[in-house]
Amino acid sequence: MTARLKGAVIGCGFFAQNHLHGWADLDDVEIVAVCDVDEAKARAAAEKFGITRVYTSAKTLFATEALGFVDIPTTMETHEALAGLAFAHGVPVILQKPFAPDLDACRRIVAAAAAANVPLMIHEDFRFQNLSRTVRKILDSGELGRLTFGRLSWRTGIDVYSNQPYLANVKRFMIMDVGIHLLDLARFLFGEADGVFCRTQQIKEGIAGEDAATILLSHEQGATSILDFSYATRRDPDPFPQTLGEIEGTEGTLVIGADQVLTVHGKGGTRRIAVPQDGRAWTREPWTQIQDSVVHTQRHFIDSLRSGVEPETSGRDSLATYALLEAAYLSAASGRLIHPERLVGDPA
Ligand SMILES: NC(=O)c1ccc[n+]([C@@H]2O[C@H](COP(=O)([O-])OP(=O)(O)OC[C@H]3O[C@@H](n4cnc5c(N)ncnc54)[C@H](O)[C@@H]3O)[C@@H](O)[C@H]2O)c1
Repeated sequence: MTARLKGAVIGCGFFAQNHLHGWADLDDVEIVAVCDVDEAKARAAAEKFGITRVYTSAKTLFATEALGFVDIPTTMETHEALAGLAFAHGVPVILQKPFAPDLDACRRIVAAAAAANVPLMIHEDFRFQNLSRTVRKILDSGELGRLTFGRLSWRTGIDVYSNQPYLANVKRFMIMDVGIHLLDLARFLFGEADGVFCRTQQIKEGIAGEDAATILLSHEQGATSILDFSYATRRDPDPFPQTLGEIEGTEGTLVIGADQVLTVHGKGGTRRIAVPQDGRAWTREPWTQIQDSVVHTQRHFIDSLRSGVEPETSGRDSLATYALLEAAYLSAASGRLIHPERLVGDPA
């Protein structure tokens, strides 16, 4: 039997609960310690998940524990300092998205990981949803021919501000919070993008940033994609947190419908595929699709560590997603088409 890899979780807030459940589902992993500057949150997590050691200082955690990895589901302002501590102790890191507040900080984190020779993955879970993997398999099969168009649409009216109150105060809101998932998913499905045009909107009153955006991407392999996303959409039923959309190729079309139903129309006719959920005991609607993907993301990280292969959404790879985000904000501010920095393969 493979020895269990010992890890710690730093940050025991809202979304970390899914991480803690996810780690508990992996037989070859053991979370030996939790850390949160808010001691009550760390203690509550330790009690709920049967974890014996509790820290309120990441410095003390790293000085005390011998860790095979650390999971950091804190908000982005803390990532550079916390990841830096892990690198100094030679501990592999999985960091929640968004990577960091700006591209320079992302680059510094990637450079620090490289200098310490420590693996770094960004927890970017949309591409690890069952739905995304099924769509990618169909595209890879060639059934749709050469891709020409894609639309990924994520629109909801849920009250995001009660679970994540900090979102009302951030200047770069919707693209940073949700757009970054769709930018990564667009790269995963349609390939790298070399042109970005974006328009943002602030629809809800009294918030600091944009709560809706539409991005148009030109992809190097020829497709055009549109990513549209909003926290200000009144729709019944509310599709949260589903990504809907369509993909066109020279030979057919794939429609991503509600409730994980795909309609594939190709040379051989039309068929519907209902993409299943994992059926985990702790997942709850409407979050199931995302909660399942958290575990798949964690599984990919652990498999990458064990095999020594760079994860799909390594820090290095995620620079390319982040460059699209920066390009989108620049386009929205300037009204211009932006050609993002070409960062894939750039080590720092
Ligand atoms: N992948 C997804 O689908 C998804 C969904 C929701 C949120 N998120 C991301 O998860 C991240 C966390 O969001 P959240 O809503 O859970 O935030 P949160 O504020 O509820 O949790 C963050 C926790 O980190 C702790 N913390 C902060 N600094 C720390 C430090 N230096 N050391 C130890 N603990 C520290 C805080 O006390 C808090 O408990 C965000 O970046 C958000 O974008 C991702």
